This record gives sequence, C-alpha cells and structure tokens, in this order.
Amino acid sequence: MLKRCVFSAIQPTGIPTLGNYGVLKKWVDLQNDYNCVFMVADLHSLTSKQDPDVLKKNSLDLFALLISIGLDPNKSIIYFQSHISQHAELTWILNCYTGIGELFRMTQFKEKSKKNKKNINSGLLVYPVLMAADILLFDANLVPVGKDQKQHIEFCRDIAIRFNKIFGPCFEVPNELIQIVGEKIMSLQEPNKKMSKSDPNLNSTIFLLDSERDIIKKIKRAVTDSENIIKFAENKLGINNLLNIFCSIKNVSLNYAEFFFRDKNYSDLKNILAEEISINFNIIQEKYNKIRSDEDKLYQVINLGCKKAKLIAEKKIKKIKKTIGFA
Ligand code: TYM
Repeated sequence: MLKRCVFSAIQPTGIPTLGNYGVLKKWVDLQNDYNCVFMVADLHSLTSKQDPDVLKKNSLDLFALLISIGLDPNKSIIYFQSHISQHAELTWILNCYTGIGELFRMTQFKEKSKKNKKNINSGLLVYPVLMAADILLFDANLVPVGKDQKQHIEFCRDIAIRFNKIFGPCFEVPNELIQIVGEKIMSLQEPNKKMSKSDPNLNSTIFLLDSERDIIKKIKRAVTDSENIIKFAENKLGINNLLNIFCSIKNVSLNYAEFFFRDKNYSDLKNILAEEISINFNIIQEKYNKIRSDEDKLYQVINLGCKKAKLIAEKKIKKIKKTIGFA
C-alpha cells in the first residue's frame, strides 16, 4: 500500500512557543510512519508587517529549530514556501473556485482584522486559499495542526471536494489531525486566550529558546486560583492549562496528570512543570546552537528540501493545469 502523506507548516513570525511545541513534537513522531512534508510558511507571514532583516533571521532560526526538535531532512521534506512558486500559482487557480463570502466568514480573518484595523490586506482574506494550495499541492491525507487551524482545514476539504466534482478526481481530500492533549495551549496570564508569539505580555508565553530562569519565572507567575486543588474543572482555566501543558510535554493522559498531582499543591505543580519544560528545551537549545552556528550546512539542508519539494510540486501543477484546460 502507498504510504500516506502528512503535510503541515508553521509561520516564521518569531521563535515558536510552548503552544507550537505540542504540534511540532507530533510532526517528529509522524516521520516514521508517513511520507512527511513540513514547510516554513514565509508567504503566509507577509499578512502581518515584516521587517526584511528580521524575517530572514526568523526564517533561518525557525528552520534550524525544526531540525533541532527532531525533524530529519533524510526522512521528511522540509522547505521554505517561497522557494516553490507553485504555491502561489495554485492559490490563484483555487481563488477562482472560492466565494468571497466564504472567506469573509472565516473566524481568523474576522479576529485578525478586528485586532489590526490598520492592516486589513487582501492577503489576510485569501490566507486560507494559500493554505489549501499548500496542502493540495502535495496531495496530503493528514494535516497535524492545533485546534485554531481546524476551520482552515475544513475549508481546504471543501475546495478539494468542489474541484473534484467539477473536474473529476484531482486532489486528495485531507483530514486534520488534532491531538486532544495540547490542542490549544493558553496564555499563562490570561488562560481564556490562546498562547501566542505576538502577545505583548512576555509573561504569557514561553518560547522554545527561553532560558531556564525565564521558564521558571514565567511558570511561577502563571495565573491559577485560590483553591489549591489540582484537578480539571470548568472554572479552573489556569490550572487546566498548566495540567494540559504537563500532559503535552510528558506525553501522558489527562487522567494520569490528575492522579499524579492528587496529593500535591500549586507550588509543586509549578516547580515540576518548570523543570520538565526546561529539561526538554535545554536539549533542543543545545542542538540548535550547534546547527545555527554553521550557516553553510544549514543552507545545504534548505536546498535539499527545496529540490525534493520542487519535484513533487512541478509534477502536480502540470496535472492541475491540464485538468483545467490550459493549452
Ligand atoms: P502557526 O504558525 O500559527 O502555528 C503552527 C502550528 O502551531 C499550532 N499552534 C498551537 N497549538 C496549540 N496551542 C497553541 N497555543 C498554538 N498556537 C499555534 C497551530 O495550530 C499550527 O498547527 N496557517 C498556519 C501555517 C500553515 C499551515 C499550512 C498549516 C500554512 N500553510 C498548511 C497546516 C497546513 C499557521 O499560521 O500556523
């Protein structure tokens, strides 16, 4: 049987967070059982304002971090979106099979345009079409993402099904792969909000390159409640989040976490959690420092990914162009 294809991506808008980390760990696991394609979504990042030097640095940092976390360029295809022009080409084609009403209804578009009234660019509106093009270009069956991307994957399925209905089978119809544990890691300061790279309150977010000292400080300051009882409950958003982070880092179930902490207090929870995060991130940081210090070698890996991705993308776009009747 043909190995199924996994595709996913992350934007180079800064150092990945603890929220991203759960998904990235899943990417590493999937490499052994699937044909995996992982992309640095630099085209997507232009929907918010980018300084060219910072974007370049963030892109290289992120690529090096993906390898440090455990993505293996010999097992998976790892590449930059902007190196493969077929993403933009397919986006145009799919735009012509997408209603603007569908795009205006997307939650992320509504949220981001409310948050950033000064930069509601059309890239922000067609962002889900570019995402669909990413996935469909590689005929992905499975897309491992966090919960915030669920609507975008559903949108991608809709376009694939619509296109296949008009032209006959052309695209694989993908499914999202969302882990229950860590599907949405929340802000440490406002646990009703997603943990995000762009949160102005630095105490809300743990970054993959944070020092042990910063990790301890941020976890110690994390919002809890006054009960001092460690369990999941609807009104215990802060504790739910810390337990979820523990499960995501340790790969254990929610039941196990509750059992493990049954006799402990909030201070124990925070100490243990900070230690676990630091141990994991320290290993990644050591590898990262080594990889990032040899830019020539890093570019070799980048070029390898680009070559492999190009072979697939060129073949696929040819087939799509033939299907729609381009002479
Ligand atoms: P991005 O860069 O925002 O996030 C990368 C991945 O991390 C997940 N994630 C989270 N998961 C749990 N808790 C959080 N707080 C949290 N924050 C982020 C995201 O769900 C995502 O899986 N549009 C995408 C990138 C993209 C893409 C694609 C993804 C471009 N093309 C094609 C899949 C398929 C994005 O901005 O992810």
